[in-house]
Amino acid sequence: MDTQKKIILVIYHSQGGTMKLMARHLAEGAAREDNVAVILKKAAEATIDDLLQCNGIAIGSPEYFGTMAGMIKDFFDRTYEAAKDKTIGLPFVVFVCAGNDGRGAITQIERIAAGYKWKKVQEHIRVTGPPTEQDLVALEELGQTLAAGVDFGIF
Ligand SMILES: Cc1cc2nc3c(=O)[nH]c(=O)nc-3n(C[C@H](O)[C@H](O)[C@H](O)COP(=O)(O)O)c2cc1C
Repeated sequence: MDTQKKIILVIYHSQGGTMKLMARHLAEGAAREDNVAVILKKAAEATIDDLLQCNGIAIGSPEYFGTMAGMIKDFFDRTYEAAKDKTIGLPFVVFVCAGNDGRGAITQIERIAAGYKWKKVQEHIRVTGPPTEQDLVALEELGQTLAAGVDFGIF
C-alpha cells in the first residue's frame, strides 16, 4: 500500500449479490481519484486496523428485517471500543439496498455512526428493487465525491 495515498474503506454485506454489485460500483468511483487507495471488503472480513488506517469510510448494507444486516452490526460491535476515540470526525457515507424500504437500515447505521462521532459528508443512497443503471452511476459518483473530498482535505 502506497502510504502517501489516502485510504477509502468500503465495507458491505450481501447475501443475494445486490449490495456486492453496488459496493463494487461505489469502490470503482472512489478509485478514480489518483491519490486514493480503495479497500473493498465484506464487513465480516474488515478489521479494526482497516478502520484505524482509513481516511474515509463507505458503509453498504441491505435492509434485513427493518434494519442493517447483522454482519454490519457485528463490524460496529467489534470495533467500537478500540476505534471510538481514534476515528472522531471520520468522513462517512451510507448506501442501502432493500426490497421496498431501507429507511430502517439507514437510520440505524447513522445512529451508530453518530456514536463514533463520524462526519456524514453526503446524503445516503437508498435503492429499492434491482439497481438501475442510473443507481449504479450515482453510486460511482458518491464514491468519487467521498474520495475527492478526503483527498483534497475538504471533509
Ligand atoms: C432475511 C431478509 C430480510 C429482509 N428484510 C427486508 C426489509 O425489512 N425491508 C426491505 O425493504 N427489504 C427486505 N429484504 C429484501 C432485501 O433488502 C433486498 O432483497 C436486498 O436487495 C438484498 O440485498 P443482497 O442481495 O445484497 O443480500 C429482506 C431480505 C432478506 C433475505
